[in-house]
Amino acid sequence: MCGIVGYIGTRDAYPILINGLKRLEYRGYDSAGVALVTENGEINLYKCKGKVKNLEEFVSNSDLSGHVGIAHTRWATHGEPNDVNAHPHYSHSGSIAIIHNGIIENYAVLKEALMENGYEFKSDTDTEVLVNLIEYVRMTNNCSLLEAVQGALKQVIGAYAIAVVEKGNPKEIIAARQSSPLVVGIGKGEFFLASDASPLVEYTDKVVYIKNGEIALLNIDSPLKVVDFDNVESKVNVKKLEMSISQLEKGGYPHFMLKEINEQPKTITDCIRGRISPDSFEVKLSGIIDHADKFLNARRIVFVACGTSWHASLIGKRMIEEYCQIPVVVEYASEFRYSNPVICDKDIVIAVSQSGETADTLAAIELAKSKGAFVFGICNVIGSSIARETDSGVYLHVGPEIGVASTKAFTGQVTVMAMIALTVAKEKGTISEEKAVTIARDLYRLPKVLEKVLTLNNQIADFVKRFTYAKNFIYLGRGYNYPTALEGALKLKEISYIHAEGYPAAEMKHGPIALIDQDMPTVAIAVTDHVYEKVVSNIQEVKSRGGVVIAIVAEKDEIVSKMADFCIKVPSLSECLMPIVVAVPLQLFAYHIAVCKGLDVDQPRNLAKSVTVE
Ligand code: F6R
Repeated sequence: MCGIVGYIGTRDAYPILINGLKRLEYRGYDSAGVALVTENGEINLYKCKGKVKNLEEFVSNSDLSGHVGIAHTRWATHGEPNDVNAHPHYSHSGSIAIIHNGIIENYAVLKEALMENGYEFKSDTDTEVLVNLIEYVRMTNNCSLLEAVQGALKQVIGAYAIAVVEKGNPKEIIAARQSSPLVVGIGKGEFFLASDASPLVEYTDKVVYIKNGEIALLNIDSPLKVVDFDNVESKVNVKKLEMSISQLEKGGYPHFMLKEINEQPKTITDCIRGRISPDSFEVKLSGIIDHADKFLNARRIVFVACGTSWHASLIGKRMIEEYCQIPVVVEYASEFRYSNPVICDKDIVIAVSQSGETADTLAAIELAKSKGAFVFGICNVIGSSIARETDSGVYLHVGPEIGVASTKAFTGQVTVMAMIALTVAKEKGTISEEKAVTIARDLYRLPKVLEKVLTLNNQIADFVKRFTYAKNFIYLGRGYNYPTALEGALKLKEISYIHAEGYPAAEMKHGPIALIDQDMPTVAIAVTDHVYEKVVSNIQEVKSRGGVVIAIVAEKDEIVSKMADFCIKVPSLSECLMPIVVAVPLQLFAYHIAVCKGLDVDQPRNLAKSVTVE
């Protein structure tokens, strides 16, 4: 939540910062701002409520000169989204400006102490407390800006990635992190900083991921220096950035979400590349093989995740229980972190996260580690905090996901879980050769199957027009597709603002059936699997109460096709992979309803893509 970006070098900072903010807007879009340090050391600070484009209009007649600057796009935590609470924030005297992603938990105590020392506050933010604390430390100790940042951060409890600039100091940016992501890009005589690598990609492929408790000194006259709060210097570990600009652009699609839905045949290809043999259909994940003993002797597997990643984990649970015969539980990371779970060193905790930065999932990992569990990560963003904090793991390799509603990450996660189940089951000998080859062959066929599913786009775009009136939807599924129903409902909620509930189809008669009438459509997943007949009965129950049914069925379906009001026909694959096939029309369904309603699909209200606060 919140995106930060900074530049110091010889180019004009403003265009770099604005482009960077646009790349990071998925992290929050309540307000935006920029602080530019001019040649003579003055700071020009501009900020306003709304998206980055509002900021561009707001500054159109302003002095935007300067080769040093910091900028911010906000997802509000402390204080409503307005001009005053927007970042950057000045210190009391106006000498220091700060941008911040995260939460300062002890801000109230610090604020009170600063107020007793004559500090006044303009905003309701925790960030203004931090910048004033830095100024206070600097003034009372007559120390350098770096020492002031170190002194202030030692007093702070919370999560942050910050960057500060100072009046009269046009040669330096100081940035620090604790539990919020921070990447520094190294160019020729210039440095960049950002919450993730996307704002840096067109300028450099040399990046340094700043670790927790580290401070980066970006000085125009010196190489990058990284120190901790006690000024102990750490080695600067430069990594090559594997990302291209085209991955960060819409590529002719009106929205990132539609681009990402359509990318899925390719992203699944990338996800399975080198992991499934095209001849023997043997599946191999080195992250599992290298720790085979852990998986062979696991007492239990615990998935921790949030949102869409939690839904994918529910599917992973079924696969691992069915094929590996290991008991699996799936926990919301936010609940797990505050529980007292019975975890020991025979347990494996699998953390699932597209961004690799979700605060609750990171906290769950910390707890699992403290109890001795082996922690395995399933992440998309390379080099992310979760990828670094886990003992082993597997990347999705589906490319940057920018649309706030997760699509290709979900299908990538389920694909990875199928490969994990097959790898472990093979090692354990709990799956027959024939079954393993059938599933692996189907994984291999997935990209072609998804290409076919995507041809349903026009049909879906056409019939959803009739459903924009609906205020509520119910999504029903069973077995492997119960989590798919949850995921379909989540997609609709988050981008169309229509209330939707996912339910295990048979549970409906224990309560929700009371809601069924002609105004509440039901989306039923009734593909050919071992619970098909049961779902048919559940659909019958809806129809006999006057409900309107949109069904997702197999191409050869003859029963539900006659009962449902609208049918979406999809190809059939192994049962455990059907959630991937079914997810795509559900994504298109939510997308087209939101478009029909004229909503901002890529940046739905109140949401941010990377939830780095709890
Ligand atoms: C929904 C969505 C969220 C995320 C959740 C976890 O479309 O994107 O529910 O799935 O915030 O995020 P990650 O996977 O980055 O940990």
